[in-house]
Amino acid sequence: MSERKILVTSALPYANGPIHLGHLVEYIQTDIWVRYQKQRGVRCYYVCADDTHGTPIMLRADKEGITPEALIAKVWAQHNADFNEFGVAFDHYHSTHSEENKVFSSLIYTRLRDAGHISSRTITQAYDPIKEMFLPDRFIKGDCPKCGAHDQYGDSCEVCGATYSPTELKNAVSAISGEKPIEKDSEHYFFKLADFTDLLKDWISAGHLQSEVSNKLKEWLEGGLHDWDISRDAPYFGFEIPDAPGKYFYVWLDAPIGYMASFKYLCDQQGIDFNEFWSKDSDAELYHFIGKDIIYFHALFWPAMLHGAHLRMPTAIFAHGFLTVNGEKMSKSRGTFITARTYLEHLNPEYLRYYFAAKLSAGVDDIDLNFDDFSQRVNADLVGKVVNIASRCSGFITKRFAGMLSSDCADPALFAEFIAPCERIAGHYESREFGKAMREIMALADKANQYIDEQKPWLLAKEAGKEQLLQAVCSLGINLFRVLMAYLKPVVPLMVTTAEDFLQSGELPWVTDLQPLLAHKINDFIPLMTRVESDKIAAIVEASKATLEKTSTATLAVTAAPIPAQDKQSSEIAEIIDFESFAKIDLRLGEIINAEAVEGSDKLLKLTINIGAETRTIFSGIKTAYAPEDLIGRLTLVIVNLAPRKMRFGVSEGMVLAAGPGGKDIWLLSPDAGAYAGLRVS
Ligand code: 2FM
Ligand code: ZN
Repeated sequence: MSERKILVTSALPYANGPIHLGHLVEYIQTDIWVRYQKQRGVRCYYVCADDTHGTPIMLRADKEGITPEALIAKVWAQHNADFNEFGVAFDHYHSTHSEENKVFSSLIYTRLRDAGHISSRTITQAYDPIKEMFLPDRFIKGDCPKCGAHDQYGDSCEVCGATYSPTELKNAVSAISGEKPIEKDSEHYFFKLADFTDLLKDWISAGHLQSEVSNKLKEWLEGGLHDWDISRDAPYFGFEIPDAPGKYFYVWLDAPIGYMASFKYLCDQQGIDFNEFWSKDSDAELYHFIGKDIIYFHALFWPAMLHGAHLRMPTAIFAHGFLTVNGEKMSKSRGTFITARTYLEHLNPEYLRYYFAAKLSAGVDDIDLNFDDFSQRVNADLVGKVVNIASRCSGFITKRFAGMLSSDCADPALFAEFIAPCERIAGHYESREFGKAMREIMALADKANQYIDEQKPWLLAKEAGKEQLLQAVCSLGINLFRVLMAYLKPVVPLMVTTAEDFLQSGELPWVTDLQPLLAHKINDFIPLMTRVESDKIAAIVEASKATLEKTSTATLAVTAAPIPAQDKQSSEIAEIIDFESFAKIDLRLGEIINAEAVEGSDKLLKLTINIGAETRTIFSGIKTAYAPEDLIGRLTLVIVNLAPRKMRFGVSEGMVLAAGPGGKDIWLLSPDAGAYAGLRVS
């Protein structure tokens, strides 16, 4: 049998937001698996990339006043830094906005088209007449057709769970401009997934998927496979379809192709034979680690695309569940929507790697990060059991024996007991039953501690004539610790690197052939890990709430009307909103760079406001209180994420905050110029 060669991927994170702990379940799971393979000497490559295309990224860049290219470059650097610090060691981390990806996307599309698997037809879709673009379902909001709940997305209702098409939504508006969408025709390209029905029926039952995933897919297949819309109209950030100017590949078409693109880049760098891994007759293994929400794309569209383009299909898809925190969905307002960066600012990343490993299995069940359990488990297992073995023994070896381990093994049978389960533990790693592996490893750590408890080196150290025994016992303790380090290397690689330095016996291979170190000099012990401090967890929660608050810094109740002045203060308090809703308000300081009267209106002024990255036109009902020339150069508070409103005089792109009973008594909420002298809007 030829030697194993493996290519592994994790799902590509979108390039419009930070990596958070939910993402990290997958990257840590995959990284542990890959590190395990590499430790065993298997030729295994791990690639990933940022998923950079699509409407949300285009609009986010627009909002930030930068190009999509600048946005994805910025996010790529942040993602890379986060992965690095969490020890997620990709062999290459690419971008779907790359030349390699463009080439492969065109190639796969062309092959599918030439084999008759692409069709085109005209479809009618919602269109934003102000933004002049077609609206993805998620960018249409309105009232749910089933339960009437307001402010629901165009595809599903978060209140009653109904799913529907955007045309069924009542009082629909564009979430981008606030305008009522119109219906517009355009030609779209489709991948004829149904051409692959028989192939997929066989494939999903042929051991490439977890059983629960395969069962779910069978249900979907019974419902029949439909054409998949793979094109989007301009404006769209993506790759133009080769034979269709003005049409772009839908982000989900080129995203999985990004796996190939990232690997191609690596091949070019390192002289690896790309075709050995991707050609139809490849004997390499190809594994995709993904979240259970994107199974459809990876287990139906992707294998069909690959097969249709005469490429190999995946060996297996490994889906995992979602992360909950303290038993609930991650929540910004509870401070449990924790970004990788916030975590890194307070805690050791390897605590989380170990905790996730201890909770992970091969199934698709959700896993829970419970803060109490987290501290307790890390402190008890890693610090209390594992590190403790070395710290209990190393002091004697250093002080009494100049760092030299004894020349005999005190208890070869005990050492052998640590090696014996290595194939079983290897099996747990291989089958992604990391929780089982951690339990077996911790049982061994208990055994090592028990040995030290029984031998009592602290008493031997005081007894005359027990020098040799003291050295032998502590040496065995260190050797057992070394086996545990080898077992834990895929999970806590940074700690193991420090331990390797302490042990002075090179990089630890997998356990199979480990022999005790005898008459071997070790270094002074360096503390490998400290306990989780609970105030650090509290600090993370607080910081996560604070991140949220940064974008919403005022406590004003505002109404959606563009004219904030009211005749009198209403005694009735408007609908109570929770903090999460309030936190959505993006309030910024802007500089009024122009103000002019609006012909035909006795209340409105047309303001041009510089909010840093861009300027906004805002119509504000403050004419009775302010002359336009008095406003130019003043700073004021602006709600910048209010959906634009189309008014009789033009589109108002936000709201300035003002208060007062009306008439001459309206005060623009604006800092005193003196107090803010020198402040620049950025
Ligand atoms: O769901 C997501 O976050 C996607 N960006 C995953 C893409 S995975 C692959 F297909 F590229
Ligand atoms: Zn509903």
